[in-house]
Amino acid sequence: MQLRLVTIDEGSKDPTSNSVRIMNQSRGLPMRLLGFFLLFLVIGVGFSIINMFKIRYLGTNIVQGIKSCFREADSLKDWIEPPSTYMHTLDDGELFWRASFVPQIKEYPFKRSRKIAFMFLTRGPLPLSPLWEKFFRGNEGYYSIYVHTMPSYRANFSTTSVFYQKQVPSQVVEWGMMSMCDAERRLLANALLDISNEWFVLLSEACIPLQNFKIIYRYIARSRFSFMGAFDEPGPYGRGRYDENMLPEVSIDQWRKGSQWFEANRQLAIDIIKDLKYYPKFEQFCKPACYVDEHYFPTMLTIQSPHLLANRTLTYVDWSRGGAHPATFGKNDITADFFRKIQQDHTCVYNNQPTSVCYLFARKFAPNALDLLLRNSTQFFGY
Ligand SMILES: *[C@@H]1O[C@H](CO)[C@@H](O)[C@H](O)[C@H]1NC(C)=O
Ligand SMILES: *[C@@H]1O[C@H](CO)[C@@H](O)[C@H](O)[C@H]1NC(C)=O
Ligand SMILES: *[C@@H]1O[C@H](CO)[C@@H](O)[C@H](O)[C@H]1NC(C)=O
Repeated sequence: MQLRLVTIDEGSKDPTSNSVRIMNQSRGLPMRLLGFFLLFLVIGVGFSIINMFKIRYLGTNIVQGIKSCFREADSLKDWIEPPSTYMHTLDDGELFWRASFVPQIKEYPFKRSRKIAFMFLTRGPLPLSPLWEKFFRGNEGYYSIYVHTMPSYRANFSTTSVFYQKQVPSQVVEWGMMSMCDAERRLLANALLDISNEWFVLLSEACIPLQNFKIIYRYIARSRFSFMGAFDEPGPYGRGRYDENMLPEVSIDQWRKGSQWFEANRQLAIDIIKDLKYYPKFEQFCKPACYVDEHYFPTMLTIQSPHLLANRTLTYVDWSRGGAHPATFGKNDITADFFRKIQQDHTCVYNNQPTSVCYLFARKFAPNALDLLLRNSTQFFGY
């Protein structure tokens, strides 16, 4: 008689057919063997039930988890595949440690697709998501998406949305506090778990793309520098926020300011999440009115890797109205002329050459701007 080992995986797929087979096979077998089979059967059915529960309520598939626990990686693909779900129970210490793994051989022994990780730092809802959906459409394989929200927020995107199940485990964020940088590092660390993410763009729920995907991809991929805003500003809102207690790690002439909305390559992303040297200094000595999200990454990266920084941001914002917050644009601001000015009326440096294409993204846009943006996105942005 042929005996077949019933594994947990098989048992979980179709417990009823197994039970039929076991009943037929069990005639004439010692009772102890029958006991073993029944044990496997019970485990199998148990996992099926847990699995159905998880799929329904958590949207994850426990079978995959079990497979990856029990199966040894038998091909390179098993080693480099990103996690099948964004949800995990790692705390920041565990996550950052795992995300800081770096291959020491620079050449990849396989064809690696290089993706841009779009990381949305939000309170919860993404009111402009229909515009982003339009922007991403047709560019699958060249991007990935990560969304950080308030921890209690549960996004409700349909299964066909590019934002479906793109939430990462999140924590409370306070404006201008270190918890803001923590959230940015958390986004980076989650995105680093996918080895094909090569560039990392931080965005908010009020950001929009100003160009079509192919132009944005090419601009970022061909740049020799990462777009981290970093400048030395005299006066109270720049050098005035520096605290001498940061010595010797940070001196006043190393102190930088820059927009929070950055683009970083993989190397800089790892530098940011692995940092233990500057973090305690900024956490302790840069509190409001020192807004740490405007200083920590720009200063740290300027000290460590100045040659990799473009020192400017890709995200347009209008501070001309003054105050602590930039201007918000609503439906009355949405005109072809408005975007033509943002897209063309500037001069900056790209790979050491002057260019008028300085901004790929813009903020801040109110939800009531969505309708006009959507209807005219081809004309305004080419998507
Ligand atoms: C989620 O979206 C569906 C359809 O889009 C809607 O019927 C449902 O009420 C929403 N649930 C919540 C909690 O918003
Ligand atoms: C950015 O600034 C650093 C010094 O702060 C400088 O070394 C670097 O060359 C600048 N990058 C570019 C592209 O000019
Ligand atoms: C946007 O599109 C609508 C209809 O397609 C058109 O009537 C309107 O003039 C456009 N708005 C702008 C600012 O071009």
